[in-house]
Amino acid sequence: MRVVSEISELKKTISDWRQNKETIGFCPTMGTLHEGHMDLVRQSKNKATKTIVSIFINPTQFNDPKDFAAYPKNTEQDLRLCEENAVDLVFLPTVEVMYPPTNTPIQMTIPYLQNTLCGKTRPGHFEGVLQVVSKLFHLTEADFSFFGLKDYQQFRIISALVTELNFPLQIIGVPTKRESDGLAMSSRNLRLSQKDRETATLVPRMFQLAKKTLAGGERNLNVWKEILTDFLLTGSNVKIDYLEVVDPMSLQPITTLQGEVLLATAVFVGEVRLIDNEILVCPPVSK
Ligand code: PAF
Repeated sequence: MRVVSEISELKKTISDWRQNKETIGFCPTMGTLHEGHMDLVRQSKNKATKTIVSIFINPTQFNDPKDFAAYPKNTEQDLRLCEENAVDLVFLPTVEVMYPPTNTPIQMTIPYLQNTLCGKTRPGHFEGVLQVVSKLFHLTEADFSFFGLKDYQQFRIISALVTELNFPLQIIGVPTKRESDGLAMSSRNLRLSQKDRETATLVPRMFQLAKKTLAGGERNLNVWKEILTDFLLTGSNVKIDYLEVVDPMSLQPITTLQGEVLLATAVFVGEVRLIDNEILVCPPVSK
């Protein structure tokens, strides 16, 4: 496995691969890798002949400097995990390599998909994500890139970027990997105290409750949201950032519980912000 920090080294390896007609799968990450990330790697290895993982905690996507400072870092263990999973190359740039001081600031935005969910409560976040993934797609010359569906809005926004601007790669969404108690795997879970880690299971249990109440015939959107909100707030240390029901494609709010809907939430458990979502199919109500 090659570990490179400089763009010139990355380009050299990619040019050699291209001469050998290799195809490139790319898994962008911010490190503190877990089995969810390794699912991306496994999918990449199935699709492409070479797999690149980038590890870069991108400062431009953090709207809160405290959140950036607290973001966990575990490079040694990350490299070990990549090696064990037969990643071909890890790109580990510094902030200076990604954003040289001579850089002219650029801002990218897809307003229609960003004015909702995390885009509303983390202003500037998706602008930073669009900036970094655009650079990484160009630098890695990826044919395929893999994104966890836990960050569903991110997946939709990046898919739109690639479609609208004709980036020559395919974006592939990978189902959320969960702990045995249902909590979505996330690098942020490491920051939860033992007590808050137990409280965090309210999130996956809320999705169970959502399905159960739908199956039970509840179709009043406000009543349904209230049941789910009250359930989350049974956790003493829980603050809801948002709990929204939106159309899975447009991400715009829906008014009736019919067909496929995306239930998405972001909650603070203590200081730690966790997100999760599920596409639910509202079963027809028997008359
Ligand atoms: O999902 C993430 O970890 C990040 O937003 C990404 C896609 C690596 C961009 O920094």
